Amino acid sequence: MLQETLEQGQGLTDAALDRLIPLETAPPVSIHKAMRHSVFAGGKRLRPVLCIEAGRMIAGSLPEGIEELGAALEMLHTYSLIHDDLPALDNDDLRRGRPTCHKVFGDAIAILAGDALQTQAYEVLARLKCPADQRVQIIEEIAHATGTVDGMIGGQVVDLEAEHTQATAEMLEYIHRSKTAALITASLVSGGLYAEGKDKQVAKLREFGRGIGLAFQIVDDVLDVTQTSEQLGKTAGKDTASEKATYPALFGIEASLEKADSLVNEAFAQLEKFGDGAQTLKQLARFLVERKK
Ligand code: IPE
Ligand code: IPE
Ligand code: MG
Ligand code: MG
Ligand code: MG
Repeated sequence: MLQETLEQGQGLTDAALDRLIPLETAPPVSIHKAMRHSVFAGGKRLRPVLCIEAGRMIAGSLPEGIEELGAALEMLHTYSLIHDDLPALDNDDLRRGRPTCHKVFGDAIAILAGDALQTQAYEVLARLKCPADQRVQIIEEIAHATGTVDGMIGGQVVDLEAEHTQATAEMLEYIHRSKTAALITASLVSGGLYAEGKDKQVAKLREFGRGIGLAFQIVDDVLDVTQTSEQLGKTAGKDTASEKATYPALFGIEASLEKADSLVNEAFAQLEKFGDGAQTLKQLARFLVERKK
């Protein structure tokens, strides 16, 4: 059931990404090769899957064209990974089981590939097949979630500035909510908006996203300590080496996993009103904390 959900969402997303990102043969070929190198490297596609399933839950069936919204979210996520790996940020060599974008194409093209995925995402969002009202709300939601105020870029800034410092629990939560939970929340909210959900329904999706989004990054921190680079497809032990502010560094592995678990359980309460329709989102939330990569 969960496996089916993941495979269907990944399949829809990958097909949309392939349609929406220029071919490797389109000039200038270097940038399109770089974009595709990072996008088609076997990411879990969790943000698109959450978006699609939020839309399905609200509409009662798969909303037509929602995979394009999922693809735009995945472009933004992949842009964030390409930039996160740059020498000036986390300086990582391995991503999704492949050498990082800048290792293969050089820093300049990697920076531009991240930029290009971002602008491509907004072109796709502007063309979404949903009513204009919802389309504008989706664009605002996603732009804000990836921005500097409580959004992804703001979180990345504080993440970098907190290296080699003794971060407080409060600062750590701010980093994780901003750099990661914000885009996960926007994925659920935008899926709900695409399906023309009522304000109250969208508000529930937002609260659910805030909880599971934070849990997701706590687990990412734990996996960095407990898994190997081969298992993760990215460099293990990197956070300790860079003295990053992480949950296991501050609270230990056990307490971090307990925190992630209770965040997910608390988040389930937000879905009560959706009844059986919420089963898939609940399964996905469990998967976020039980995953091994
Ligand atoms: C990794 O995200 C970066 C974080 C925000 C923690 P994912 O674990 O979703 O990475 P992919 O997309 O599967 O590669
Ligand atoms: C990245 O967090 C969050 C982003 C916005 C990309 P990390 O730096 O922990 O992600 P990984 O572990 O490199 O995937
Ligand atoms: Mg980082
Ligand atoms: Mg990193
Ligand atoms: Mg990490």
